[in-house]
Amino acid sequence: MLQIVDQSGPIWTVECDGCDFLAGLPAREVDASMRNVLVVERRRKSSAIPAELRGLPLPGGHGGAEVAARSWARGERRGLALTGSVGVGKSYMAAAAAWARMEHGPLRWVFVPRLFNRLALAFDNEQRREALDLLVQTGGLVLDDIDKTRPTENAAEQLLCAIDERVTAGAPLLVTTNLTLSALADRFPDPYGEAIVSRLVGYCEVFAIEGPDRRLEAAVAS
Ligand SMILES: Nc1ncnc2c1ncn2[C@@H]1O[C@H](COP(=O)(O)OP(=O)(O)OP(=O)(O)O)[C@@H](O)[C@H]1O
Ligand SMILES: [Mg+2]
Repeated sequence: MLQIVDQSGPIWTVECDGCDFLAGLPAREVDASMRNVLVVERRRKSSAIPAELRGLPLPGGHGGAEVAARSWARGERRGLALTGSVGVGKSYMAAAAAWARMEHGPLRWVFVPRLFNRLALAFDNEQRREALDLLVQTGGLVLDDIDKTRPTENAAEQLLCAIDERVTAGAPLLVTTNLTLSALADRFPDPYGEAIVSRLVGYCEVFAIEGPDRRLEAAVAS
């Protein structure tokens, strides 16, 4: 995979992590298609998608959810919510769609339980600052597992602001959850739950992913 290592000067350093290729490329000689490849690679590198979820193809066999994820990935939909029980493949589908969508613009991946955990740290904590930075950046946002842990009031407020900014800007937003959107409100302290759910319901088309818990299936098979 090609990645820009250094794009700061007139000579860009480009690296292929699969074959150890390393080259300096005069920025002005990089043609439009190559420039686009490099820009997409840079977006993907800084997206914070976890290593095990990077570069996945969009999976088949998921009916309406798959069709919607493909169209979201092509930039044809703005808000998408993938619901379903534990282990059915929501995060997998979201990561594959996010990977493809970055051909159209930048996106950040946020695993919400970790976000809440970090936002609960002391105000001057470095990890808290980094978590906040990820949330407030412009561009698209994937909120993976929005329902799994209960946030502090401050974390709920930060999440509300991040969602509201995407909705106001018409930016890409993808949410995964085990719950229906309407059941989500109870997961957040008042008054944030209703405000968050109202925005999500208004902005996101909801699709359920059905199926067995793939983790359990894999454990039984091994
Ligand atoms: N289409 C697929 N093909 C192969 N493996 C898959 C597919 N979808 C999911 N998996 C695997 O199944 C497991 C569960 O998937 P995933 O984490 O996406 O589920 P989830 O619905 O997000 O679960 P949770 O509700 O616990 O967050 C993971 O190990 C994932 O790699
Ligand atoms: Mg998940």
